[in-house]
Amino acid sequence: MAAQNLQSVPAELSRGESQEQSQEAAQREADGQANFDRVMAEDSRIEPRDWMPDAYRKTLLRQISQHAHSEIIGMQPEANWISRAPSLKRKAILMAKVQDEAGHGLYLYSAAETLGQNRDKMTADLIAGKARYSSIFNYPALTWADMGAIGWLVDGAAICNQVPLCRASYGPYGRAMVRICKEESFHQRQGFEILLELSHGTPEQKQMAQDAVNRWYAPALMMFGPPDDDSPNSRQSMAWNIKRFSNDELRSRFVGMMVEQVRVLGLTLPDSEIRFNEETRKWEHGPLDWNEFKEVLAGRGPCNAQRLERRREAHDDGAWVREAAAAYAAKRQAKQSMTTKEYAA
Ligand code: 3HC
Repeated sequence: MAAQNLQSVPAELSRGESQEQSQEAAQREADGQANFDRVMAEDSRIEPRDWMPDAYRKTLLRQISQHAHSEIIGMQPEANWISRAPSLKRKAILMAKVQDEAGHGLYLYSAAETLGQNRDKMTADLIAGKARYSSIFNYPALTWADMGAIGWLVDGAAICNQVPLCRASYGPYGRAMVRICKEESFHQRQGFEILLELSHGTPEQKQMAQDAVNRWYAPALMMFGPPDDDSPNSRQSMAWNIKRFSNDELRSRFVGMMVEQVRVLGLTLPDSEIRFNEETRKWEHGPLDWNEFKEVLAGRGPCNAQRLERRREAHDDGAWVREAAAAYAAKRQAKQSMTTKEYAA
């Protein structure tokens, strides 16, 4: 009898405890949700330790990791031209820009890590071809003028898309974007200046600049993502104050910016259908080849295979750096804990 009692009491207790625990967990979740809803309504910020819905975390991870990969893969078309830049000054500027892109990747991987994603896993997904990165970086950079067109159009589109992200509701992402956008502004100006110099150079140089603008214009417009009626994520991302404007809205603003700037360059945009719609107060452009966009996203763009291959090689080449950095960090940590023990003794 005594034995029976002994067995039954803990079982009842543990049932009681787990009920209490689950009630507490439910209360925590309800409080967390209420805080999250308040933050969204007040258009304020969620920080890493705050409760957030799983779907919000997943959406952020999807966008931030894609963004980080884009910065890293985006180094390639320009890095190819560092050794062929026409002067020491251009070489130094281009090198600094490519290094900036690496830095952007690092800020963004760090922001993703605050959401619980491991950076090694993100890198593994990228080099295994399982992760997305921006369509734009699957196009080749054929001439020096492409450095101008990439800076002006691609970084210009990036700024247009990313300035509103400085106000993203997730703190670490928004803060990373502030610094990134400042650097992107410098990138765009250096691209503009390359094109300006070429367009005021020989007729061949001007033609080279025009040709580069012709090739990068449509892919730059596609960077903003599919049209709104084919964008499955926009609505929810906007409701969560991650994205502030729809893909088409930003694309239209970008066209308006470029229309003004291309005049100063003395070049033209390869789109005879650009016009300002007085009724909607929006810039309109000619049709884009969304089949081409889908092909690029499916891995069948002009440079997809090459970009991934190069990233894999760079990852392998960098193995010794990672090993050395890890060994150094372990040594420092051991030294630090030794000092702490000595201090305590
Ligand atoms: N390239 C590749 N994939 C794209 C894309 C593009 N240009 N545009 C959209 N997609 C993908 C989306 O990721 C999504 O795929 P998923 O569901 O598998 O993730 C799908 O197409 C449907 O698109 P949605 O419009 O529904 O997706 P989003 O709401 O996420 O909007 C976005 C897409 C506008 C790119 C948004 O994610 C965003 O603003 N991202 C942050 C900015 C960014 O990543 N920029 C990349 C360029 S980096 C750069 O510019 C570097 C600089 O140095 C030049």
